[in-house]
Amino acid sequence: MRILAVETSCDDTAVALLDGCSAIEERVFTQQGHSKHGGVVPELASRSHMRILPGLVSDILIAAGMDSLEGIDVFAATAGPGLTGSLLVGLTWSKAAAWAAGKRFLGINHLAAHLYIHYGQKRQVAFPAAALLVSGGHTSLFRMNSWQEILLLGSTRDDAAGEAFDKTAKLTGLGYPGGAALDVAADSGNPENCSLPSPMPDPSLPEFSFSGLKTAAKLLWEGGADRNDLAASFRRTVVDLLVSKLMYQAEKLEAKSVLAAGGVIANSLLRKALRQECAARKLELFLPDKEHSTDNALMVGRAAAAILERNPEASSPLSCNAFARWSGSRLSPVGCP
Ligand code: KG4
Ligand code: ZN
Repeated sequence: MRILAVETSCDDTAVALLDGCSAIEERVFTQQGHSKHGGVVPELASRSHMRILPGLVSDILIAAGMDSLEGIDVFAATAGPGLTGSLLVGLTWSKAAAWAAGKRFLGINHLAAHLYIHYGQKRQVAFPAAALLVSGGHTSLFRMNSWQEILLLGSTRDDAAGEAFDKTAKLTGLGYPGGAALDVAADSGNPENCSLPSPMPDPSLPEFSFSGLKTAAKLLWEGGADRNDLAASFRRTVVDLLVSKLMYQAEKLEAKSVLAAGGVIANSLLRKALRQECAARKLELFLPDKEHSTDNALMVGRAAAAILERNPEASSPLSCNAFARWSGSRLSPVGCP
């Protein structure tokens, strides 16, 4: 089953060609023009997807030795959540391609797709599992009873962790999006030199709050704190909160596995802390490589493959629309019911 998956929910244009859950080819184009504006400009992001997407698809088809879309069985695209204009580009392209080729289309939920990067691999997830999804737009904990039953335990009450990383990086002159740059700066700093509060520290509370932390970082910066020390303290505070709450839930659920997903999982200290804490508890950790932590189309393709394994006839209607937000208690890879 050949799947052509498209992801355009924010500022990364990504395409993947899969055979079931296995990647044949994949490409990600990260837009550069937003940094001078200090954040993603939605219209620029949409226009960039429009310009870049057809070329990425052609590249992939050529690399896979295919001269048309005829060899594709199913077209899948992220339907939401994300920036509506950006989503509409990938979604509309995918639906039009499916219609023109006379093939099926599947609309995919972006949040579920982040977790589904771990689906269908040689090393299989054992359930129940505790999952952390932490990106630029979301910070949530889930209980996974199976791939079909992913239940929300709690989320951030304000900013997402990635958003807090990006705003603190911007504040300290590390550019935008600066999560990765702050991670590098933190390696040269001493967290002990900068004291930040730990918001909502109770590990048993499966919720987060990062906006106060961001403000505390701003006050320290304005008071003359060293950039690297501030970065190190900020990173350690966020990582401690994410890991302690995830481990608490893993123990409470008597989890057999721990899943991590989303752009912030590229953070070096977070990866190290997750490895250490899971090893100490003999929990099997599923950590995506850095390229598949941030937005990519392979995760969208695997989510589509999972839907098709359960129901080989599955398809979304061509009226499937983009959605900006997800609010629910049960996460499904199906983006267009
Ligand atoms: O999953 P993703 O690519 O997009 C969303 O769905 O939001 O996540 C992007 C987020 C950004 O906030 C970015 O700064 C953050 O992931 N990020 C990092 C690192 N690499 C990316 N945050 C902390 N440390 C990193 N190394
Ligand atoms: Zn994402």
